[in-house]
Amino acid sequence: MTDRYAVVGNPVAHSKSPTIHAAFARATGQAMTYERLLAPLDGFADTVRAFEAAGGKGLNVTVPFKLQAFALAVHASPRATAAGACNTLKLEADGWHADNTDGIGVVRDLSRNHGVSLADRDVLILGAGGAARGIVLPILGEKPRSVSIANRTESRAEDVAARFSRDGMVTPLPVAALAGRTFDIVLNATSAGLAAGATLPWPRGLFRPGAFAYDLVYGDGPTLFLRWAGAQGVTRMADGLGMLIEQAAESFRIWRGVLPDTAPVFELLRPTARA
Ligand code: ATR
Repeated sequence: MTDRYAVVGNPVAHSKSPTIHAAFARATGQAMTYERLLAPLDGFADTVRAFEAAGGKGLNVTVPFKLQAFALAVHASPRATAAGACNTLKLEADGWHADNTDGIGVVRDLSRNHGVSLADRDVLILGAGGAARGIVLPILGEKPRSVSIANRTESRAEDVAARFSRDGMVTPLPVAALAGRTFDIVLNATSAGLAAGATLPWPRGLFRPGAFAYDLVYGDGPTLFLRWAGAQGVTRMADGLGMLIEQAAESFRIWRGVLPDTAPVFELLRPTARA
């Protein structure tokens, strides 16, 4: 039987993961299928069990099941444990193993695709939800000069800083305290800006000359955060499409033991974006 993989979520119809993994499988000569699985909001575990019974070997997990996937697994990698969330499940002899490739996806996209080094940089993470938690550990691993985190709900930023205190220094900042401060790399890990007519809650002027703006979200055009940065003179920026492709490549490596080349897939999904 051909090994089966899938992305599970709700909603999941919009997911680009099947296109990405089909391209990886073609390029690396792997015999596998990759599909979309729509799980009922109250039926994540049942959906995973049914997939396993039908020959499923691995899953990407998306909204809103990343915490449930972590809880369901019999084993979790250090980066999944650090994030408290799982975007990649792999079936092993003893059950499902959890990993989290979101953070390495951001770091690889920045370093390999955009030539941005985090080393010795002052980094600001906006947001303190699951997406923010997923990127803190890999960012600390790049040895930035400082990592600050600011969130609308201040206590959540403090919780994230405390959670990673053994891994490195993360400074929680109240949003109001951002005024007058500047950073080399600013990452938007919030969902602020997704709603129609949204405005962004942060003070202007966060970007140093030459700063890089990164939005973990992606869309058909520049996101609100990137337009906001651009209006302040920022010229170096990227949305989260590259992160999506890089995290997929790392999931593929976990499942199949081969890390695929991501550049052709970026061209496939956004032909005009990169020279
Ligand atoms: P995810 O898993 O995508 O991170 P989440 O855990 O619900 O989802 O987190 C969403 C993040 O976006 C949080 O940091 C949230 O701030 P709060 O912790 O204060 O809720 C942030 N967020 C969402 N809408 C926002 C808005 N309009 N302004 C500022 N921050 C917002």
